[in-house]
Amino acid sequence: MNIGPYLLANNLFAAPMAGVTDRPFRQLCRQLGAGYAVSEMVTSRRELWASLKTSRRADHQGEPGPIAVQIAGTAAAMMAEAAAYNIERGAQIIDINMGCPAKKVCNKWAGSALMQDETLATEIAQAVVKACAPHGVPVTLKMRTGWRHSHRNAVKLARAFEDAGVQMLTVHGRTREQGYGGHAEYDTIAAVKAAVRVPVVANGDIATPEQARDVLAYTKADAIMIGRAAQGRPWIFRELAYFLANGTHLAPPLVAEVRRLLLEHLHDHYGLYGEFTGVRSARKHIGWYVKSLPGGAAFRARMNSVEDSAGQLHAVAAFFDELASITDRMPVTAPLAGEEEAIEA
Ligand SMILES: Cc1cc2nc3c(=O)[nH]c(=O)nc-3n(C[C@H](O)[C@H](O)[C@H](O)COP(=O)(O)O)c2cc1C
Repeated sequence: MNIGPYLLANNLFAAPMAGVTDRPFRQLCRQLGAGYAVSEMVTSRRELWASLKTSRRADHQGEPGPIAVQIAGTAAAMMAEAAAYNIERGAQIIDINMGCPAKKVCNKWAGSALMQDETLATEIAQAVVKACAPHGVPVTLKMRTGWRHSHRNAVKLARAFEDAGVQMLTVHGRTREQGYGGHAEYDTIAAVKAAVRVPVVANGDIATPEQARDVLAYTKADAIMIGRAAQGRPWIFRELAYFLANGTHLAPPLVAEVRRLLLEHLHDHYGLYGEFTGVRSARKHIGWYVKSLPGGAAFRARMNSVEDSAGQLHAVAAFFDELASITDRMPVTAPLAGEEEAIEA
C-alpha cells in the first residue's frame, strides 16, 4: 500500500509509543518485518523543541524511509508550525495524534481529548494539511473510536478528516474513556473503513498471527498496527507476515538470534541516549525481552541495580547463553498485549 507517494513494504505497522518507539526500536521493527513505523509524538509547543527529549525524538539518522513524525497539540496554528518544523528536519509524513489518552496530553486538551471538540479537531487537520501540502508531505491521523462509549464519533470525524485532505487514518479500537482497559472493538474500525476512501489502519490488542488475520478480515482495514505486542518482541512482524502469507506459523527465533538482536538494540540505545540515561531507559526493554522467559522475573529485578552499560551487556549475554544451553529456540510465550502500561507523554 501507499501513503501519498511512498510505497510501503507491507501492511504491518509498528505503533507510535512514547518512550518506546525511539529510532533504535523502530529500526529493529523495520529490519524484522514491519512495513512502516511511526515515531513517538513530538509536542507542538515551540519552547520544548530544543529540549533533549524532543531532539532525541526528532533524530532519524540512518532510519529507512519514509520518516513519519507524529505531532501532538491543541492549537491549529501551533500544529501547522510543528509540522513545518519537522519537515525541515526530515519528516516525510506527518501524523496527527488524536489517540493518546495520557493525562499530560489530555489535560492540555490534546491527543484523544481532541475528539470531543469536532470543530477544533477538523481545524487542526485542515491547518496541518495546508502546512504540509507545499512540501508534498502527506498527513495521516491516529485516533480512537471516540471520547466515550456513548459518544463514538470516529466515523463522523473520519469523513471530516478525509475532506480536510488527511491521507490515511489509524483507529485504535478503544474510546478515550477506556484508556487501555477493557478490550478493543473492531466494529467502529470496520465502519470507518466503510465510510472513507483513504487507507484505514486497524489497531488495538493485536498480538497473534490469528488475531492479525481476523482483524484484517473483519474490519477490511488496509493495514494493522501493533504496539504493546512488539515490546521485547520486535520479530512479531515477520511472524505475522509469514502467517498471513502461508497460513502456518514461523518457528520461534533462535535464542542466539535474540541474544544478538538485543545486544545490538542495546548498543544503538546507548548511542542515542548516552551511558547514564541509556542504561536506565534500556531496563524496560530488557525487561520486556525476558519477561516470559525462565528466570526472567528475577533477572529483570537484578537489572535494576546494574548501573553501567558494560555490566548490562555482560548480564544480558550471560542470561541468553544460559537459556541457549537449555533450548535452541525461544520458548513460545503468551501474548503481551492487553496489559496496562504506563504512558510517558
Ligand atoms: C507506552 C505507550 C506509549 C504510547 N504512546 C503513543 C503515542 O505517542 N502516540 C500515539 O498515537 N499512541 C500512543 N500509544 C498508543 C499506541 O500507539 C496504540 O494505539 C495502543 O497501544 C493500542 O495498540 P496495541 O494494543 O497494539 O498496544 C502508546 C501506547 C503505549 C503502550
